[in-house]
Amino acid sequence: MTKFGFVLHPLSVYDIKKRKWWAKFLPDGLIETVAKATRPYVASHITGIRSKTGKETEGWFAIVPMTPKQMLADEDYAVKQIIRAGELLALQGASIMGLGAFTSVVKDAGITVAEALDSIGVTTGNSYTAYTAGEALLLGAKEVGIDLKNATLSVVGATGSIGNVLSKLLAPQVGRTLLVARNVEKLAQMAESLAEYNVSYTTNVPEGVREADLLVTVSSAPEAIVKAEDLKPGTVVVDVSRPRNVAAEVGKKRSDVLVLDGGVVRVPGDDVEFNFNFGFPPKTAFACMSETMMLALEDWRGDFSLGRDLKEEQVLMTGEWARKHGFEVVWMRSFDLPVTEEQIDRVRRAREVT
Ligand SMILES: NC(=O)c1ccc[n+]([C@@H]2O[C@H](COP(=O)([O-])OP(=O)(O)OC[C@H]3O[C@@H](n4cnc5c(N)ncnc54)[C@H](OP(=O)(O)O)[C@@H]3O)[C@@H](O)[C@H]2O)c1
Repeated sequence: MTKFGFVLHPLSVYDIKKRKWWAKFLPDGLIETVAKATRPYVASHITGIRSKTGKETEGWFAIVPMTPKQMLADEDYAVKQIIRAGELLALQGASIMGLGAFTSVVKDAGITVAEALDSIGVTTGNSYTAYTAGEALLLGAKEVGIDLKNATLSVVGATGSIGNVLSKLLAPQVGRTLLVARNVEKLAQMAESLAEYNVSYTTNVPEGVREADLLVTVSSAPEAIVKAEDLKPGTVVVDVSRPRNVAAEVGKKRSDVLVLDGGVVRVPGDDVEFNFNFGFPPKTAFACMSETMMLALEDWRGDFSLGRDLKEEQVLMTGEWARKHGFEVVWMRSFDLPVTEEQIDRVRRAREVT
């Protein structure tokens, strides 16, 4: 059996406080200092993954105890810690390792980590993440009655690993695509590579968001950058980012928009156990974790999704694997709760009015 490992990290100091008793007695700054000085460790054994084909796999979660802000502030140290986590996972018996949340964002999106590790393959999991985000967006659009050919799609974080390939896949399907990020040169270059479609760009996030009928948020901003007042009524949003890009207030104040949680996947197997609570319903995982599991089920040797120029074919291949092994996108969730018919109806009505 080919086995996998997956690297997680706390998304905030609050996450550390929830899990570590000692953190309750310390100020936030000191909690981060102590966490950063801690070596990566194996947190759980993941069992019971069983493909539709009958093939099985199992794996481990390893933790790099750094928050997103700490990783962005000291990328070299973060990479060193991720490599240590990879060595631990290889010792457990994993042949492929996935990089969760900001462990795939720091530096060159997994390339340095993969070069340093001979005994284990590396993937960011971003190909299947892009695939599931696109699938959720198209299903959401259909549900609320958005005509793709007349719709504006905005991608916040468009020049990133997930945003780039997702924009390439979706631009041919929609009326207009608006690329949003901070670096104007990268945006201009990307827009030029998509010149055969109706593609423009902006560095102004609220402006880019305001124009969207369809919005994917996939930036590496370590805090929410899409606010309740930014969205027009009837917009369908897929928030892929972790930490989330869409502020929690949107869920409370804007019943006229549909915000879907991106990258949530049902994993095949009646007895799937993660033995670690990362806040998802039983038997569901992030898409990046699912890609890592699929690679193990495919007995993949070597690396898979690395860097910020993923190929469309790679993304489509993960979609094929998902169908083959029985991984399913759980797209009807919003801020960790199931989406109701009433929510969908309100968004549909908001579109009819505008
Ligand atoms: N749900 C899942 O299963 C899953 C799986 C993998 C990753 N993720 C999450 O997806 C997100 C993106 O990952 P990635 O690997 O694609 O990251 P990435 O390659 O580092 O790309 C990040 C993108 O965000 C832009 N950006 C950063 N800060 C911004 C800001 N303040 N305003 C606007 N744009 C900004 C960057 O461009 P500029 O620097 O030019 O602004 C770039 O386009 C992360 O939050 C990650 O944790 C989720």
